[in-house]
Order: sequence, then C-alpha cells, then structure tokens
Amino acid sequence: MNTSTDNTPRLVDRFGREIKYLRISVTDRCDLRCVYCMSEDMKFVPRAQLLTLEEISRIGRIFADLGVNKIRITGGEPLTRQNVIEVFKQLGKLEKINDLTLTTNGTQLKRFAKDLHKTGVSRINISLDTLQADKFRKITRIGHLSRTLAGIDAALDAGFKRVKLNTVIMKNHNDDEVIDLVDFANERGMDISFIEEMPLGIIGDHDRAETHMSSDEILDVIRKKYELIPTTETSGGPARYFRRSGNNNRIGFISPHSHNFCEDCNRVRLTAEGRLLLCLGQEHSIDLRRVVRSHPIDDAPVREAIIAAMDLKPRGHDFDLNSQTVILRHMNSTGG
Ligand code: GTP
Ligand code: 5AD
Ligand code: SF4
Repeated sequence: MNTSTDNTPRLVDRFGREIKYLRISVTDRCDLRCVYCMSEDMKFVPRAQLLTLEEISRIGRIFADLGVNKIRITGGEPLTRQNVIEVFKQLGKLEKINDLTLTTNGTQLKRFAKDLHKTGVSRINISLDTLQADKFRKITRIGHLSRTLAGIDAALDAGFKRVKLNTVIMKNHNDDEVIDLVDFANERGMDISFIEEMPLGIIGDHDRAETHMSSDEILDVIRKKYELIPTTETSGGPARYFRRSGNNNRIGFISPHSHNFCEDCNRVRLTAEGRLLLCLGQEHSIDLRRVVRSHPIDDAPVREAIIAAMDLKPRGHDFDLNSQTVILRHMNSTGG
C-alpha cells in the first residue's frame, strides 16, 4: 500500500495497478438460469455461510477508507437477497464512494428501482440477450422476457444517471439479434455492452467454443448498418466504447479473449461467502469472512488483510475456450 499526496491510503498491487473498484456479489442465487452462466442443477451456498448484510456494508466501508471510490453490487441476482436494500443504504452514505452501481437481470426492478435510486445508486447494468420471448425462455431456462422488459422501463423511469444493457451473443442462439438489441437500447437512451463469453464453471449442455462470437465479429455486423466512431471514454470498467454517428449512446465491447484488458485492471471482487478474489479468471483469494468474524469491532486487522492480499493479485487471466482446465467457479458466485 502507498499513500497519495493528501495522505489517502492507496491499494496498489505488485504490478503497480491501483485498486479503486470493488465488485461485491451479495448472493450466488438467481431467479434465472442463463445457459452460459449456470448449469441446470446448480448447488448454491447455504445461507448460513453468506456474509451478513452488516458484514458486507462494513467491508465496503473499509475498502472506501483504503481508497476505493467505486462499488458495484452484483450476484447471482442481487435483488433476490432479502433486505438487500439495507446494503445500498449503508454504502450510499459513504462519502468516498462516488459511483455506487448495480448489475442485475432486471426481474425485480419494477419493485426496487425507485428505492435504489433514493439510496444513491448512480448507474444500473441490466442483462438482456434477446428480445424474443421464446428465445429468452431458452437462454434463461426459466425466465419471462416481459418481467425483464418491465424492469428496464422501471429503471428508465426512476432517473438513474445511466442504464446500460449487458448482452452475451452466442452463435446460432441470438446472433441474429445484434442490430435489434442495439436499436432497442439506443432508442431508449441506453448504452449497450457486448460481453465475450468466459469459461467460468462447467456447463454440461452448453459448448462455449461452439457458440463463441468475438467482439470483432459483432462489430462487423453493426458496421454493416451503422457507422461507428471509437471513443476514449471509460466507465472505469473494461469496455471499449464506440458511438454511432448521430446518436448519443454508446456501444461497448468487453473482450477478454480478443482484446485483453488485464494490464489496466483496477478491481477486486468479494464473493457472497466473503472470499476476496483478486482476479475474475484466477483462483487467487483470501478468506475475508474469517478475518471479519475474528475481529467484529476492530477494523485494523481487516484493513491489514486487504492490503496484504494485493500482493496475490495475478497479472491476468488465462481464459482458453478450448482448454479442459476451466475455472470451476461459475459466474454467479462472482457476478462478473
Ligand atoms: P461499468 O463499466 O461500471 O459499467 O461496469 P462493468 O462493465 O465493469 O460491469 P458489469 O457488471 O456490467 O460487467 C460486465 C461484464 O464485464 C462482467 O459481467 C464481466 O463479464 C466483465 N468483466 C468486468 N470486469 C472484468 C474483469 O476484470 N475481467 C474480465 N475478464 N471480465 C470482466
Ligand atoms: N461469460 C460472460 N458473461 C457472463 N455473464 C454471466 N456468465 C457469463 C460468462 N460465462 C454475464 C451476464 C451478466 C454479467 C454480470 O455477466 O450476462 O450480464
Ligand atoms: Fe442469473 Fe445473471 Fe447468471 Fe443469468 S447471467 S443466471 S441472470 S446471474
């Protein structure tokens, strides 16, 4: 760890990368079962093993004291965790956090969007891979498109600074909908990010190498219809953004396979069980829950454990869609 000129602590890893962004998964459970994310018969973490809402808020506060200024709440589906709004309320009060954000599948937003906005959430990312009800059911295995669409409308009405769509395009599943999804987002004043699928967890009935569609292939499809202008803007995340000429909204590409962004990585992740993961694509981690529970009042040992963990952060991921060695953890336990 270093300190900045104004004496604010800074979390810095062995490669000189400063960690300013914490992603917190508040639950590994979800009310959908997207084929690229989960297997059909997922086993979830027993509730007793989860961090409590108070522990999550405390860890968020300690990270803010260590120089983190952006927190994203993810899941599973974060809004399925009971009383999760309390976490947003607590984190929303932290002066040092200037970007409190949420990644969600949208199913519960009709109920929660207004309250989330009140707690200080600035931006929401909503996952949407198709605009066709039957395909939505196939991709999510159990979902209803109408619920997610109602959630998107509720988010747009609630007044967030930005609502963005996250889309995973899979060959022969939804690759015919790239333009429809771009139009849907941009007509409603939303950005959209296309994410290359990552090999997290084994999923028996889904072959990732077969469905892989690179960001460049998606770019080619969009460029056949629209002129795209690259921008240097960033939201602090890994997306590369483009703008359509004559349109204010952005089209982003998160391309871990084709355009590695690990060099600029600024984030760490907290799983719902309290494992502090130093990289999405590697297993380096510490058991922060144990430290928090051993020191329920004194923050100093928790701070020290977080600072020491920075030395474990690896240079980057080794994702390989064709390799037999995959990360066993599914995306729902880390939230992307
Ligand atoms: P903003 O830039 O703040 O809008 O957020 P984001 O794009 O980082 O957040 P979001 O939760 O929408 O993330 C979208 C996806 O990007 C995640 O689900 C991951 O798939 C991917 N992603 C985010 N951070 C990383 C990272 O550090 N490494 C890799 N490989 N993928 C990441
Ligand atoms: N690869 C890439 N993206 C994934 N998501 C879930 N699983 C994967 C995966 N294996 C996406 C979801 C959501 C975001 C949090 O991560 O669609 O938008
Ligand atoms: Fe749930 Fe998101 Fe995973 Fe889909 S991608 S199953 S919505 S956590």
